[in-house]
Amino acid sequence: MRLLNRSLSLQDVTLMYLTMLVTLVVILVASYQAGSSSGAKLPYHILLDPRGDLQLSWNISYALQELYLELQVKHLNQGVVFGMSDRGELVNADLVVLWTDGHKSYVGDAWSDSTGHVTLDSQQDYQLIEARRTPEGFFLLFKRPFSTCDPRDYVIEEGTVHLVFGELDKPLASLGQLNLSLVHSGMQRVLLLRPDTPSILMPKDVQTHEVLVPSITIPGQETTYWCYIAQLPRDMPKNHIVMYESVITPGNEAIVHHMEVFECAPQLEKVPQYSGPCDSKMKPRNLNYCRHVLAAWAMGAEAFYYPPDAGLPIGGPESSRFLRLEVHYHNPLLISDRQDSSGIRLYYTPTLRKYDAGIMELGLVYTPVMAIPPREQHFQLTGYCTAKCTQTALPQGGIFIFASQLHTHLAGRGVRTVLVRGGREVEIVQEDKHFSTHYQGGFGIEEEMCVNYVHYYPRTKLELCKSHVDPGYLQKYFNFINRFQGGDSCDCRQTSVSEQFTSLSWDTFSAQVLNSLYNTAPISMHCNQSTAELFPGDWERRELPQVTAHLQRPPYPCERARSPAARSGSPTEVRSDSRT
Ligand SMILES: *[C@@H]1O[C@H](CO)[C@@H](O)[C@H](O)[C@H]1NC(C)=O
Ligand SMILES: *[C@@H]1O[C@H](CO)[C@@H](O)[C@H](O)[C@H]1NC(C)=O
Ligand SMILES: *[C@@H]1O[C@H](CO)[C@@H](O)[C@H](O)[C@H]1NC(C)=O
Repeated sequence: MRLLNRSLSLQDVTLMYLTMLVTLVVILVASYQAGSSSGAKLPYHILLDPRGDLQLSWNISYALQELYLELQVKHLNQGVVFGMSDRGELVNADLVVLWTDGHKSYVGDAWSDSTGHVTLDSQQDYQLIEARRTPEGFFLLFKRPFSTCDPRDYVIEEGTVHLVFGELDKPLASLGQLNLSLVHSGMQRVLLLRPDTPSILMPKDVQTHEVLVPSITIPGQETTYWCYIAQLPRDMPKNHIVMYESVITPGNEAIVHHMEVFECAPQLEKVPQYSGPCDSKMKPRNLNYCRHVLAAWAMGAEAFYYPPDAGLPIGGPESSRFLRLEVHYHNPLLISDRQDSSGIRLYYTPTLRKYDAGIMELGLVYTPVMAIPPREQHFQLTGYCTAKCTQTALPQGGIFIFASQLHTHLAGRGVRTVLVRGGREVEIVQEDKHFSTHYQGGFGIEEEMCVNYVHYYPRTKLELCKSHVDPGYLQKYFNFINRFQGGDSCDCRQTSVSEQFTSLSWDTFSAQVLNSLYNTAPISMHCNQSTAELFPGDWERRELPQVTAHLQRPPYPCERARSPAARSGSPTEVRSDSRT
C-alpha cells in the first residue's frame, strides 16, 4: 500500500506548459439556444445535498475520455456553483457557475483561489449542451474531458472525487463579485469513473433474499451505525451469490450512506436477535464474530455483478445462517422521525458456477513498526505480497481479480495497488489519489487498517498477504537516531516500539532516515491461510522486492493534441425554454 506523494509531477509541469500556450483571453458572450430534446438518460446518479435539491447524473465515454454531467436544480434561485476540488473545499476548486446579472443568465467554467476569489477560466472546458426547465426543476447538461490540460482544472481520475456545490441567492453584475464564503455550500464524495457494467443476464433459476432493517426510526443524530441480525432459511444448501444491489426506502436516499452484509462465523450455534446501534452496550457480544463480508454498498454505487464464471458461496454446511446487516446513516440535518427499511438484496443461484470467488487482504500488517512521523505532508508506506508468497499459495494459472476495495487509517490520503512482474509494474489494480476514510465500502467500523480487499477467483487458501519492516532493522534505526541525537544508548528492547517512536525527537533528518529504512530494509511477510496459519516457508527478513520500471499513464487527448480544443475564455449565455 502506498500513500502517494502529491507533489508536482512531470505531468503537471507538462500541463502547465501546454496551457501557457493559450494566451489572450477574449470575453465574448455567446448566446445559447436551448435544445429541444426531452433530456438525457444518464446511467449514473447521485444526490448532492441531504435534501436532494441538487442532483447529478452522468455517463462516461472511455473512448473519448469525457463525461456528460447533468445537474438538476429543483428550486433554482439566482444560480448555482458546482465543481470538484482536492478534498471537498470550495477554495482551490475547479468550478462551473450558473449566474444571472438580473437580466440574462450565464454559464462559465471558473476556478477559485485559496481565498475563495472566483475567476473565469482562460479556457472553457465545461461545454454546455443543454439547459431546460421542467416541473422537476432546472437541468444543465455539460460535457467535460477527464483532463483539460488547464492547470487550474481538476483531473478526473479513478478513485474518489470530491464534488462541491452551492446555491446563489443574489444576482451578480460579474463573476468577480461572487464571494464563495457567503454561498450556502456542501460537498459529496463519489466515484465518477467506474468500469462499464456489462449487462449480465441473470440465471433462470435466480432467487433473491432481502436483508433489510425491520422498519426502524433513524436516530436524530449525525452518524449512526445500525446493526441488524438476519437469518437465512434453515438448511439452505450451498448457492452462489451472482449479484447484489441496494434497497433504499424512498425518501431516504440522501441519508443511507453505506451498507454491508456480513456472515457470522459458522462455529456460532446461535446469534441472538438484535436490531439497534452497533455501538450499543445492549448488542450481543457475538456480533464481533460476524465479519465475513458478503456484500458492501456505498452511496452512488450501482448493483454489483460477479463475473459469469464465479459466485460468492452462501449457505451449505460450512457456513452460518446468521447474517449481520450494518447500515451507516449520515443525517447531518438531524431529521428525527424518519422510518427506514433499507438494506441489500442478494441474488443467488443453486446452479453453482465454475469457481468460488474469494476475498484476499493485501497491504500493511497492522503493527506499530510501520509508522508515519508527525507533521509530514507526504509519507509513503508500502506493503508487499511477494512473488514467493504468490508462487506458494496461488494456482499455476494465477487468479483473476475482478474488484477491490481500499481501506486505510485516518491518515490515508492516496492509495494504490499495483501488480509487479519481474520488477516491472504491469497493471494498476486500484488507485485513489483523493482517498477519504469517510467514503469507502468499509469492512466494519472497529477495524482501522491500511489494506486492499481484493475480490478474485478461483478462491484459494491465501486469505492475507501483507508485510511490515523487519523489527530488528527498525531497532537499528532507533539505536542510530538515539546516538545521533546524543541520547543514551538504552537497551531499547525493554521498551515497546510505540514508546520508542514517541520518545524520538522528530525532525527532517529522523523522518528521512525512517523513510529510507522502509525503502531498503528487509521485510517480514505474512503469507497467511484462512486458518490464520502461515503457509509453510521462511517468511522472516526477506529481501525487499525491487520495482525498477513504473507504469506510465497514457496521455490524455488534450495532451496529444497539444493545442487544447476548448473554446477560450467566455461565459455562455443560457436561455432555457421555461414553458416546457
Ligand atoms: C452520454 O449522454 C449524451 C447525452 O445524452 C449522449 O449524447 C452520449 O452518447 C452518451 N455517451 C455515452 C458513452 O453513453
Ligand atoms: C467574503 O465574505 C466574508 C464573510 O462575510 C468576508 O469576511 C470577506 O472579506 C469577503 N471577501 C470579499 C473578497 O469580499
Ligand atoms: C498470520 O499468521 C501468523 C501465524 O498464525 C500470525 O501470528 C499473524 O498474526 C498472522 N498475520 C496477520 C496479519 O493476521
